[in-house]
Formats: sequence, C-alpha cells, structure tokens
Amino acid sequence: MESRTSGRRPVIAGNWKMHRTVRESVELVRQLKPLVEGSRHCDIVVAPPFTALWATAQTAQGSSIAIAAQNLYWESQGAYTGEVSAGMVAEAGCRFAILGHSERRSLFGETSLDVSRKVEAALKADLTPIVCLGEQLSERESGRTEEVIGTQFRQSLVGLTEGALSRTIIAYEPVWAIGTGRAATPEMAQDVHAFIRGLALEVFSPKTAGQLPILYGGSVKPDNVDALMGRPDIDGALVGGASLKAESFAAIVNFQA
Ligand code: PGA
Repeated sequence: MESRTSGRRPVIAGNWKMHRTVRESVELVRQLKPLVEGSRHCDIVVAPPFTALWATAQTAQGSSIAIAAQNLYWESQGAYTGEVSAGMVAEAGCRFAILGHSERRSLFGETSLDVSRKVEAALKADLTPIVCLGEQLSERESGRTEEVIGTQFRQSLVGLTEGALSRTIIAYEPVWAIGTGRAATPEMAQDVHAFIRGLALEVFSPKTAGQLPILYGGSVKPDNVDALMGRPDIDGALVGGASLKAESFAAIVNFQA
C-alpha cells in the first residue's frame, strides 16, 4: 500500500442526515469527545440537523470537533420560508457546510448551479464548503462516470477564484455506494479522486489543485477506512450511517494509514 505523502491534512466528517434530536445530538458529541481527544492527525467534523447546530457547537467547545451544516440557502436573509442562510449557520457555531449532497440533488431537485451559489455564500460567511459529487449506478455502468463528475465539478464550482478553491473541500460520493454497504473499492475511488484533481488542474494552479482535499463517501466503515485512506488522493471520508455511533465514528477518525 502506498503511504500518504501528500501533506494534505485528512478530514473525517460525519453526516448525520435527518437523524438525532437536539438531546440525542448533544449526547452523541459528549460521547465522541473523549474518544477523539488525542486524535490530532485529522480535522474532525460532524453535521447534525439544523435544530441541533447551536447546542452541539456549545457541547463541542474545547474539543477538536467542528460542526457542519448539511445545507444552506444562498441568500443572506429575506422572504424564503423554510430556508437558512450561511450567516445563520455560521452564527450557530458551524465552520463547515456540506453542499450538493446527492440526496439534496435527487430528492430536492438541487442543481449544480444551485450548489455553486451555495458554495459562494458559504465562503462569504467564512464556512468551508464540502462539495459533494457522484455518479449514479447507471452512469457508472454506461461508462459515463468521468463525464458526470466533470460536469458536476465545473458547474458546482463555476467562477471560483484560486483563493476560494483553496478554502474548499470536495467529497466524491458515488450514489450507488451511499447507504448500501457497498463501498467503492479503494482503487475505484482513487481513480476518480485523481481524475477530480486533474479537473482542478485544468483551471487552477498545480499548488492549489495539489492542496485540494478530496474526501471519499459511501459506506465508509471502521473496517474499510484504512484501505481507503491508504490511497494517495483520498484525503478523508464523509461518513453517513457509521457516524451515528460514537464508537464507530471514532474508529474511523482514528484510521491507520
Ligand atoms: P453512508 O452515507 O456512509 O451511510 O453510505 C454517506 C453519505 O451520504 O454522506
């Protein structure tokens, strides 16, 4: 296995989706804190539901756990019933925002253009966007993975400056691997990650493209994280199901590679 020599700081992020009440979220962060206390080798991020952002941010204080929103709206305020702005989640204690997750794209009709507006709003509010890209199973099976990822990358990050990209994280999440227990193999993920880094190189300097963190997401578990993290362009993980238990998320945070 090749060792990680990139110099990019790993990021392990938990996407709790629509799971956990405020009380349960606070409890989960409380349980996680001692388990990751000594974990200085990576950034640790959890994304509870909106209702629990403030309380979990308070609970996480004094630890290295950062809080992410799972979504936001690009306008800063106004008559947008049901939406939450980047400034609002930042004030609630978030430092990151997961944007363009495949569930947002497929269940809520979010387009890459929407995602690009959200990325811009997040950066303006000093949040680090975690921008999700990923192909459907039918797209992979018809050999269209690179075309789909290329389009999503260009459209979701349209117009970003060099400085903006250097504050952005990408998450490659093949849709067929999300919540299915069928993770991409480390080789499959590595191929797409290298392809994404190549896309960044088409538009940005080698330095910026070389420093871009690219996380893998889709059925990451304690027993497959080491092999994934052993690949040179896999810089971290975006974890759904296995982030809902402190022990399994901590085991992923404490990967060996
Ligand atoms: P999973 O979800 O780890 O449950 O597959 C990943 C995600 O949707 O971010």
